[in-house]
Amino acid sequence: MKLQENVLPEVESIWDAIEKNAWIPWVSMAEVAKKREQPIITKGEGIYLEDVHGNQYLDASSGPVAVNYGYGNTRIADALKDQLSKLHFLHYRIAFTQVVADVFRKIAELTPGSLNRIHLNITGSDAVEGAIKIARGYYDDPEKNKILSLYGSYHGLSYGTLSITGFTSFKDPFRLNIPSGGLHVPPPYCYRCPYGLVYPGCDIMCAQMIDEAIKGEGANAIAAFIGEPIMGVGGVITPPKEYWPLVKEICDKHDVLLILDEVMTGWGRTGKLFACEHWNVEPDMMTMAKGLSGVYQGISAIAVQEKIFDKFKDQKFYHSHTQSCSPLSCAAALAAISFIEDENLVAKVAEKGKYLRKKLEELREDSAAVGDIRGKGLFQGMELVSDREQKLRFSSKDPAFTGILEKKFLERGMIIRIGGYNSDTLYFTPPLIIENDEIDQMCEITWEVLKEIA
Ligand SMILES: Cc1ncc(COP(=O)(O)O)c(C=O)c1O
Repeated sequence: MKLQENVLPEVESIWDAIEKNAWIPWVSMAEVAKKREQPIITKGEGIYLEDVHGNQYLDASSGPVAVNYGYGNTRIADALKDQLSKLHFLHYRIAFTQVVADVFRKIAELTPGSLNRIHLNITGSDAVEGAIKIARGYYDDPEKNKILSLYGSYHGLSYGTLSITGFTSFKDPFRLNIPSGGLHVPPPYCYRCPYGLVYPGCDIMCAQMIDEAIKGEGANAIAAFIGEPIMGVGGVITPPKEYWPLVKEICDKHDVLLILDEVMTGWGRTGKLFACEHWNVEPDMMTMAKGLSGVYQGISAIAVQEKIFDKFKDQKFYHSHTQSCSPLSCAAALAAISFIEDENLVAKVAEKGKYLRKKLEELREDSAAVGDIRGKGLFQGMELVSDREQKLRFSSKDPAFTGILEKKFLERGMIIRIGGYNSDTLYFTPPLIIENDEIDQMCEITWEVLKEIA
């Protein structure tokens, strides 16, 4: 497909507004306005988006790994229409309604073990912010208030979550006086082990260092360790099987809470309902968002163990927004959860994930640009390299190459996220409803692009 010139008057008008009035995050506005490369989309169906010219694009990454149930999912859309006509809003301080109660019950039922107390909010960042507050309030010792997390981790961009997000580049431009408490240790990044070790002869040093960090700071200084079961924005960094059980053991030993941030990995994405189930690790708190409604509405949750909630049950918890816990967002979540259950989606994701992984491994055999492939289920990352033997970073060759690569995919009718700590990982994280022939199409396009960049 050749991208058509954006000459239609409505396209001109959209770009005019973007250029003059919009301030979009994560991008340089000057560059976006100058290049005018993004497609102008009119609708979405299943795993495809369609632009004003009628071109179709396969969304290989589900937007920001969030459109789990595809575009135009009628089941969720119908539930929303129904709820909208009945009761669009009800404030949680005034009254309760069935659909909201159902969501509390359903999440508690489905989250592992005794994660039975559910707090609802709007964004993933809200959930993480809340978990930080709870962890810091849980201990009577006011000094036990630091939160340990991983370099390369992503937990949000709000003031509190930014303090624990492990990308300094996100914090630097604003000279933020980040609230105290964020400490980082290196991630379980086996392909480029931060300690120069090789699994399995490494004694899982990345987990041992959490022990060291807690001892170094003093166990009475650390309230919680937070991590993504598989690191998302950092590049689908997938730990070895020993990692999470060991981290849990270390946290328990030092009486440090374990928060698992399942905002990206939760609700079936990895072939289990929650990624922590791959390692049978039950955290003290779990955060979730994206897949909870497949972004049909903004809704997030913190699932908290009863023992932690007990500490707060007589207190007021000041953590919400006007629109938190709305019937509309709960209707979306409930419809999404019943879609997962009725479609047997989690088992299907496990199967399709194996199929996708096999196809990606074939690409690695054929292309020297593929360094590492990692992930679980339909959460797969492909790290590109400019020299496979020496593992030379792909991005080190030409920092502008990410943009060029994105355009090459776009020209072939595929939208793919290229990210990771060094912006050289392709995200194969399609909507969970993808079929095998669509996986073939996704890999076929990838093969064409890999051939071209070789
Ligand atoms: C693991 C994780 N935590 C938190 C967030 C923040 O969620 P939100 O963008 O909804 O605030 C994200 C977003 O990508 C995420 O991947």
